[in-house]
Amino acid sequence: MGRRILVFTGKGGVGKSVISAATAVKLADLGYNVALVSTDPAHTIAHYLEVQISQEVVKVLPRFDLIYIDPVLEVVKKFRAMSEYVVEWFRKYGIDEVLAYELAMLPMVTESMGLLKVLELYESGTYDVVIMDTIPSAEALRLLYLPLILTSINKRLVKLGFSIMRTTARMLSLVIGTASRIGRMMEEEQIFFDEVAKLSQIVTNPEITSIRVIANPDTSSVDDAVKSVSLAQVFNLNVDLAIMNRVLRNGQNIPKEWLEEQEKHVQRFITSIYPIPVKLTPALGTEVKGIEKLRKLAEILYGEEDPTKVYYIGKIINIREEGDKYILEMNLPPGILDCEDVFFQGDELVIQLKSERGLVEKILPLPTMLKLAKPETAYVEKRKLVIEFRKVS
Ligand SMILES: Nc1ncnc2c1ncn2[C@@H]1O[C@H](COP(=O)(O)OP(=O)(O)OP(=O)(O)O)[C@@H](O)[C@H]1O
Ligand SMILES: [Mg+2]
Repeated sequence: MGRRILVFTGKGGVGKSVISAATAVKLADLGYNVALVSTDPAHTIAHYLEVQISQEVVKVLPRFDLIYIDPVLEVVKKFRAMSEYVVEWFRKYGIDEVLAYELAMLPMVTESMGLLKVLELYESGTYDVVIMDTIPSAEALRLLYLPLILTSINKRLVKLGFSIMRTTARMLSLVIGTASRIGRMMEEEQIFFDEVAKLSQIVTNPEITSIRVIANPDTSSVDDAVKSVSLAQVFNLNVDLAIMNRVLRNGQNIPKEWLEEQEKHVQRFITSIYPIPVKLTPALGTEVKGIEKLRKLAEILYGEEDPTKVYYIGKIINIREEGDKYILEMNLPPGILDCEDVFFQGDELVIQLKSERGLVEKILPLPTMLKLAKPETAYVEKRKLVIEFRKVS
């Protein structure tokens, strides 16, 4: 098995940090050298692992390093000239220095630093596995798309014979002054785009990078996780595993209605992202804190399996163009009999499926091009759901 990058994502509070940490413990136990990257200023991971963050790298176990990065310091360290340039640019337009610094450190910029750190650690060859515990929500995945988008923009600009910085620097050279500074900025820009291009290759290689999506048995975290999976597909990122965390077990004096409600969320999750495997982890009675509890959680989650395994490679939806139509195809789990209804709810497509156990609803966030089309027919054929959309001109 080659070196791997595992990215855990999901809505706020679903258990990303706990599961990232548990996975790291399990991997270290199996003899892998593991780095767990956190950009969370609240240091929650350190709390779960019961370590103090005293420097950038904290040795949790002989083979497990926790790497805490401060994205702002990282920007300043690596891209000083570029960030100062942005700050000065804002100041030129009358924005005071404090605010100018805040604006220069917009979330996307700073969070991307976490990703560049992952790349740096992966490339260093020091670690067999680099784990990233992302910021909450499906939006976190946009950070992974950013390199892909930037790379394609940069390629086009290079083809046209100019760079973003060179053009803006030329326009604003009066503000920022010396030629050597402009030179330094362009060097940094080159470094930035080179790193970003490498990153996009690495994150779209399913043998290297796996996105693992976590949800809890509730409507909003399942919606968020399904959205992450659909968005990942559009950008060729491979989601190989999903985890339904904090599942209540029968026999814990849980009212029957709660368990029934929970089962609906579990089924919807499984149906919505089929055939990506879904693992269930129970709600442990106490806070998951300390190496032993994390080890126990990892045991339940992975059992005898090696967490570096690629659990699944492939897409859950397929969209093709046919004349004035788009055809969307999706594999369905066993037990689905027919498609009852398909309609738009805001930006999302709601698909009601008839199953042996009753009606199952599947909510699918759609790529922008399909939002501009109208669903016309939907049917189930050979365990496949087919939806035809007519283009709206
Ligand atoms: N399986 C579980 N059983 C019991 N408690 C759990 C379980 N998983 C997570 N928790 C608890 O839920 C809380 C949130 O977990 P965690 O911090 O890992 O979530 P997160 O997704 O990283 O949150 P954030 O989005 O804020 O970063 C913690 O108190 C944690 O101990
Ligand atoms: Mg967290």
